Amino acid sequence: MKAFASEYSQGVSLARQARPGRKTGFIIRRGMSNLRSMLARSFLRRIVIWKFGVRRIPVSTAHFELSLIYPLEEAAGSSSPDLIDLGLRAVRGASDIDLRHLHDRSATGRQYLSNFPGEHYQLLASLVKCLNPSRVTEIGTYTGLSALTMLTTLGAQARLTTYDVVPWDKIEGSALRSSDFADKRLEQRIGDLADPQFYKQNQDVLLESDVIFVDGPKDGRFEPAFIDLLLKTPRKTRALLMFDDIRLWNMLRVWAELPLPKLDLTSFGHWSGTGICWLGGE
Ligand SMILES: C[S@@+](CC[C@H](N)C(=O)[O-])C[C@H]1O[C@@H](n2cnc3c(N)ncnc32)[C@H](O)[C@@H]1O
Repeated sequence: MKAFASEYSQGVSLARQARPGRKTGFIIRRGMSNLRSMLARSFLRRIVIWKFGVRRIPVSTAHFELSLIYPLEEAAGSSSPDLIDLGLRAVRGASDIDLRHLHDRSATGRQYLSNFPGEHYQLLASLVKCLNPSRVTEIGTYTGLSALTMLTTLGAQARLTTYDVVPWDKIEGSALRSSDFADKRLEQRIGDLADPQFYKQNQDVLLESDVIFVDGPKDGRFEPAFIDLLLKTPRKTRALLMFDDIRLWNMLRVWAELPLPKLDLTSFGHWSGTGICWLGGE
C-alpha cells in the first residue's frame, strides 16, 4: 500500500516542490550515480520543457502539475443553461457546507475538507444537496473523505456505492470506520469498472445513480475505457457526471473529448480541475 500511496502522491507531475528563482545548484557527492540522479532531480524540480524551450517555474508553490489552456470552442460538447444554473447554485451553497465534524477522521482531513475554494469537498456536498439523489456512485474511495462528505448531505433513504480496487480497510490513514457502513447507506465494491465484465455486473448501480463522481486512477487507460462503456449504456434518466482532476495532463483529452453538456467548475472545486456534465436522459 505504501508503494501505491507514494506512486499516487507522485501522480503524473514532471516536477514538484518548485522554488522559482533558486539556482539549480547541487552538492557534489561521491559516486556518479548519486550525482546524476541528484542533478536530474534538482533540474527537473525547477523547470518545464515546453515548445518554447526550457522554462523556470514562474510561481512559488509546493506542488504543481503540468496542464494546458486552450480556447473552449475547440473542446467537444458545450454547456447547457440548466448545467450552468446547477453549477451556480452548488457553488453558492458550497460555502455554507460545514465539514468540521469530519476533521478528526484523518490527519489530513482538516487541511483538505474545509479548503474552499481549492479542494472539491464542499462543492461535492453542495452538489449532492442541490440534486437530492436517491443513489450516488463514486469511483475512487481512497481514504473515504469524498464518500463521507457526500454522506453529509445525502438523504436518509439514499445510497452511496463507492468503488475502488483497494478495500478501504487496507488504505493507510483511511478516514472510514466500520460503523460508516452499518446503516447500509454506504457500500464499497471492489473492482475495475473499466473491465467490461465487472461493468456489466454493476450496470444497475450506474443506471440507478443520479450522481456519478469519477475520481479514479487518471492513468490514461481507466477513464477513456469507463466513459466508453458508460456512453454505450442507454439510460432513461439523467445523471450528473462529475470528474475530478480534469486539468491534469492525463485528463485533458478525456475532458476535451467528452461529447456531453459540460461545465468546468475548477475555480470552486479541486485546484487540479473539477468538471460536471449531464449524462443521458431526454
Ligand atoms: C484520487 S484517489 C480518490 C480520492 C477520493 N475520491 C477523495 O476525494 O477523497 C483515487 C483512488 O482511485 C483508486 N483506483 C485506482 N484504479 C481504480 C479503478 N480501476 N477503479 C476504481 N478505483 C480505482 C485508487 O486505489 C485510489 O484509491
